[in-house]
Amino acid sequence: MSTKDFTVLVTGGAGYIGSHAVLALLDSGYDVVVLDNLTTGFRQTVPDDAIFAEGDIEDSALVARLIAEHGIGAIMHFAGSIIVPESVENPLKYYHNNSAKSRTLIESAVTNGVKHFIFSSTATVYGVTGLVQIPEDTAKHPTNPYGMSKLITESMLTDVAAAHDFNFCALRYFNVAGADPEGRSGQSTEGATHLIKVAVEAALGKRDSVAVFGTDYDTHDGTGTRDYVHVSDLVAAHVLALEKLIQDPDTSHIMNCGYGRGFSVIDVLDAVDRVTNQEIPRVIQGRRVGDPDSLVSDNRLIKQTLPWQPRYDDLDIIVAHALAWERKLSEKSG
Ligand code: UD1
Repeated sequence: MSTKDFTVLVTGGAGYIGSHAVLALLDSGYDVVVLDNLTTGFRQTVPDDAIFAEGDIEDSALVARLIAEHGIGAIMHFAGSIIVPESVENPLKYYHNNSAKSRTLIESAVTNGVKHFIFSSTATVYGVTGLVQIPEDTAKHPTNPYGMSKLITESMLTDVAAAHDFNFCALRYFNVAGADPEGRSGQSTEGATHLIKVAVEAALGKRDSVAVFGTDYDTHDGTGTRDYVHVSDLVAAHVLALEKLIQDPDTSHIMNCGYGRGFSVIDVLDAVDRVTNQEIPRVIQGRRVGDPDSLVSDNRLIKQTLPWQPRYDDLDIIVAHALAWERKLSEKSG
């Protein structure tokens, strides 16, 4: 039985970040309905305590029915496409999945009386800034359609919140990594390209080595630097953001979500070696197209706005949790 007044609709709740948000909401006493079309999500990652609807956020009749039947009071919107190079090759897919479908979903929210909306945005909206830490008011110049497709949705939300009885929080994620500390969910995507996922796959013998893309960046050791944030801390910020939206219904927020510190590729690989007590072979390669030197959040705004107290701001812990999940995946696949 929920201790809260309403149910939360989580789109993309069978995906990596969405599934962790479902766990965080259930742990906080919310009832949850997951809407996922399972193109990239996994049905089995949705816990039995959540109601699951297979379908698309573009299906307005379905969304209206879910809102009415389950008393949906807020939407957490994770569904979308996230592969940067694919967005360059197929921009219309990204403007459809991330912008146009979001527009339809926001309309469904407004039309059916859902007043609170949380949106997964990305640090990619900033593009290359040259800043050590990026505050939210930095000029936005996304260097790829993925980032632009998310920025468009932020703009739609801003305009809709000004016009209707509706507020929102967009969280601009830095590099999300790790897995649920209790081993209930993790990153299951096959053929993943993200550094920590790739490195723990290598640690378990699923790959021979890890490529280091570029050693001539303007960073402390020449390799690319990122603000790796544990997925459980990230989703905890979403639950706090929801509570803030409920408490203060006239205010919306766009905030970075990161720890405000950076680790290089070498720092990450050293952490994986430490945690696994082995040396994973590293293969130095050229730069990957479009990668900025450094992406680190200025996180003062989220810290001022929400009582967010990260619990896993430790690279070794992030790696250890990612590794534990990867091991679980290996055991499942035999
Ligand atoms: C990118 C996006 C991010 C998006 C995410 C989802 C940008 C700037 N960031 O993160 O917004 O949410 O993808 O797809 O577009 N690296 C290696 N070897 C590897 C893999 C990565 O050296 O095998 C390096 C990269 O060059 C980079 C760092 O590791 O310096 C992190 O890369 P990755 O994990 O792929 O994430 P981003 O590209 O930062």
